[in-house]
Amino acid sequence: MSLLSVALAALRVYAAGAAVILAQLLRRCCGGFPEPVFPQQPDRVAIVTGGTEGIGYATAKQLARLGMHVIIAGNNDSKARDVVRRIQEATLNDKVEFLYCDLASMNSIRQFVHNFKAKEIPLHVLVNNAGVMMVPQRTTEDGFEEHFGLNYLGHFLLTNLLLDSLRASGSPSHSARVVTVSSATHYVGQLHMEDLQFRRCYSPHGAYAQSKLALVLFSYYLQHQLSAEGSAVTANVVDPGVVDTDLYRHVFWGTRVVKKLLGWLLFKTPEEGAWSSVHAAVAPEMEGIGGHYLYNEKDTRSLAVTYDRELQRQLWARSCAMTGLRDTSDDVM
Ligand SMILES: NC(=O)c1ccc[n+]([C@@H]2O[C@H](COP(=O)([O-])OP(=O)(O)OC[C@H]3O[C@@H](n4cnc5c(N)ncnc54)[C@H](OP(=O)(O)O)[C@@H]3O)[C@@H](O)[C@H]2O)c1
Ligand SMILES: *[C@@H]1O[C@H](CO)[C@@H](O)[C@H](O)[C@H]1NC(C)=O
Repeated sequence: MSLLSVALAALRVYAAGAAVILAQLLRRCCGGFPEPVFPQQPDRVAIVTGGTEGIGYATAKQLARLGMHVIIAGNNDSKARDVVRRIQEATLNDKVEFLYCDLASMNSIRQFVHNFKAKEIPLHVLVNNAGVMMVPQRTTEDGFEEHFGLNYLGHFLLTNLLLDSLRASGSPSHSARVVTVSSATHYVGQLHMEDLQFRRCYSPHGAYAQSKLALVLFSYYLQHQLSAEGSAVTANVVDPGVVDTDLYRHVFWGTRVVKKLLGWLLFKTPEEGAWSSVHAAVAPEMEGIGGHYLYNEKDTRSLAVTYDRELQRQLWARSCAMTGLRDTSDDVM
């Protein structure tokens, strides 16, 4: 039975991926992905988690090109030094820097926020982008299953600790924005409220999909609270499509062979993948808009269960307990 559920989770994830790839192939053949144009963003500050690789790197570079002060949050110092230099050279923007943040450690996240706040600069955009996919069963420093702990809880904690900075930096005519990167795999995800840590029967596919589903629920409930308090901060979630990055290093070898041979045709480039995040972060038409799931930069319906306010609230409360945050969400009910 359990083996069956592990196999089914894998099949569902592959089916979701195949559907997106097919849609992308059709689109590639009918004109492709036109490069969007965004207005310059002088004097605005962004944090991009996982900005050293893949979609995050492309996001950080595009935001830097728009003149933003970009802070890359990542967990590899030596890689980051090189990345910062490359982005500075490519964009001629020297306001690009790195701050260490291991999202698999709550201690490190708290230290990162402390270091960021010590800079006494505003924060207009937070891009929750870092992630791992289908890693073998492992736990974070705090003992959480890695997908859940890093992809989801890490960003839950980070966002909550940075909310006061975001609130202080947004204004009624120009809100601050939280952008969270989910995935089409959330459509096949299930929230295992009785076993969020996958202790009973580990499925790397199930665990990845659950983390991406949790991020959608989180983003919607965050927006619900922000709207209720009338704050000038918005929260949206984006789906970058299937993108040619190293995220696939843990997937079945056959998939990696296909990606190597046909990635150029079937997958989006990291630059194209980043447009979803950049759109949510700076596009004028997104001003004041929150609680959306954006796919190919368009408002799209996410999985039905993500709109379940009671489930959102339960997950929020559990997440507060797991990260040691005070749950103030009931105040806005
Ligand atoms: N690629 C796709 O097809 C696809 C599809 C849907 C959604 N997504 C989502 O897009 C996001 C970016 O993925 P990607 O494809 O660009 O993958 P990627 O190339 O593997 O990049 C992931 C980034 O996350 C960082 N990261 C990993 N563990 C971290 C930790 N403990 N602390 C801080 N940073 C950490 C990585 O840093 P290091 O390199 O230093 O480890 C890297 O910069 C992920 O959330 C992913 O779920 C991707
Ligand atoms: C950090 O990045 C460098 C350069 O990409 C790589 O060689 C090294 O293995 C990485 N370190 C860790 C701890 O992942």
